[in-house]
Amino acid sequence: MSVTKRPQVLIIGSGIAGLTAALRCARFASVTLLAKDTLLESNTLYAQGGIASVWSDADSFESHIEDTLRAGAGLCRADAVNAAVRDGPTHVARLIELGAQFVRGSDHGIDLHQEGGHSHRRILHDHDASGRAIQAALVENVRKNQSIRVLEHSAAIDLIMENKLLRKDKDKNLGQCLGAYVLDTKSGAIQPFAADLTVLATGGAGKVYLYTTNPDVATGDGIAMAARARARIANLEFMQFHPTCLFHPNAKNFLITEAIRGEGAVLRNLQGEAFMKGRHPMADLAPRDIVARAIDEELKRVDAPHVWLDISPITDFDVKFPTISKRCRELGIEPKDGIPVIPAAHYLCGGVLTDLVGRTSIPGLAAIGEVACTGLHGSNRLASNSLLEGLVFAHRLADWAENEIEYHRTRVKPANLPVWDMGRAVDIEERIDISASWREIRTLMWNYVGIIRSDRRLKRAQERLLQIRHEVNEDYWKFKVNRELLELRNLLTVAELIVECALSRKESRGLHANVDYPERDDRNFLKDTVI
Ligand code: FAD
Ligand code: SIN
Repeated sequence: MSVTKRPQVLIIGSGIAGLTAALRCARFASVTLLAKDTLLESNTLYAQGGIASVWSDADSFESHIEDTLRAGAGLCRADAVNAAVRDGPTHVARLIELGAQFVRGSDHGIDLHQEGGHSHRRILHDHDASGRAIQAALVENVRKNQSIRVLEHSAAIDLIMENKLLRKDKDKNLGQCLGAYVLDTKSGAIQPFAADLTVLATGGAGKVYLYTTNPDVATGDGIAMAARARARIANLEFMQFHPTCLFHPNAKNFLITEAIRGEGAVLRNLQGEAFMKGRHPMADLAPRDIVARAIDEELKRVDAPHVWLDISPITDFDVKFPTISKRCRELGIEPKDGIPVIPAAHYLCGGVLTDLVGRTSIPGLAAIGEVACTGLHGSNRLASNSLLEGLVFAHRLADWAENEIEYHRTRVKPANLPVWDMGRAVDIEERIDISASWREIRTLMWNYVGIIRSDRRLKRAQERLLQIRHEVNEDYWKFKVNRELLELRNLLTVAELIVECALSRKESRGLHANVDYPERDDRNFLKDTVI
């Protein structure tokens, strides 16, 4: 590491967490910000509902905390919930100062939506394109900031670990993180990037499943890199399936926001019955795990391809939800006739285990946003709490780093970082095998590690994943690494870890439902499934 005047911070990922951390860290450090695709492309960009924060005088921190704890079903970390909820309004106000435009209204100038599991209106939104409003404002500020070096189409491959460098890799503890190897996905060049603080802000892993609301970048790279560096990972069994993803052969990953049910829409089965009534006191606005399981049951009961979302109780639907109306009509669906929906993998509640300022178990390595497991979500995330988490914990990390980073500065010079070892790798020839392995992993996870699980199906998934692991290890390391290959390796690692966590939890709780342990076990439960 060069001993420059300013410390070096390497941020991997450009969603709400990475962009916010970059802007805050740029006040005291030289920041390099990596995006695997363009700076805009991220889960954040596609967020529809909005960001949860106590904003109305009728609402309270206590109520938001209680709703978050209730959704999390006994596994939230109370201090993480407190931090996210209580810091929320201050940081949301900063986001507005940075230019994020939310729909104006009567609650301190803002119109608030309601979503499942919330007992108050507290979702700041820009109709159904709330993520775009946030992402666009943050990207614009980052592009103007001279202290932030932006590298698009740059994918981190692996973390650079101190003891590997010193060839002490037999040691279980790999020492400090010194940066990352980064692939320029356009030229194929691989460079080591040195940093005093490396921040994983790589988002989620929805692409591990066949059906997902997530865009293509969400392949769990940060979790896989952290796992290879032996960081502690937790609670990956808690994959959230969003109840309402658009069902249409030509609609890849298109979400139908929960805010539509917040405005009065009702789920109906193919017989037209409003099946959420009587299933839960909050009916269509019950927490997501309950709604997703109810839909899954309806689909399996009569082998139906989808259920309907009946939007007829909503006036001015096209004005309130313009993106969704437009997309439906492009696909030949008239919203007022009902929108066909199915559940799909949406959000990973677990991740790289961190403390309340985003530090992981490895010195020099932090994790923020969806890649992290702060304990905010417990076993089920409350709607619109994830943009809040990314925002708040990015600030908390930057505040910590501003005071502490000097103590953590490494003296390794960039010249001493080894170049990426290509071995005898050759250019890739059989692309078809890579996509076949991708498809197999995603189908396997959907069929065997989906909304309802059993030990038998989990073990079958584990055995098949092990075979795929042998194939990938044997076959794919002969080739020069490209984005598809590194994502396949990461997807496989995350799939293996999800199954491992799911097998360790001997109860059904929150998002994890196992027919062999159908009850929640409040006496012998695992607080966290830590790997
Ligand atoms: P992301 O926004 O996903 O950003 C990850 C970044 O990491 C991207 O820039 C990506 O390119 C980069 N990256 C990944 N791997 C690498 C690598 N190897 N090297 C370099 N860069 C890498 N939450 C809410 O709170 N409210 C909502 O209304 C809401 N709606 C949603 C709607 C949809 C359709 C989806 C998919 C999610 C929604 N969520 C919502 C969840 C929320 O959007 C995400 O949890 C949140 O945006 C994650 O932010 P992040 O900064 O952690 O990651
Ligand atoms: C939605 O708009 O339904 C998604 C909200 C979320 O994932 O928090």
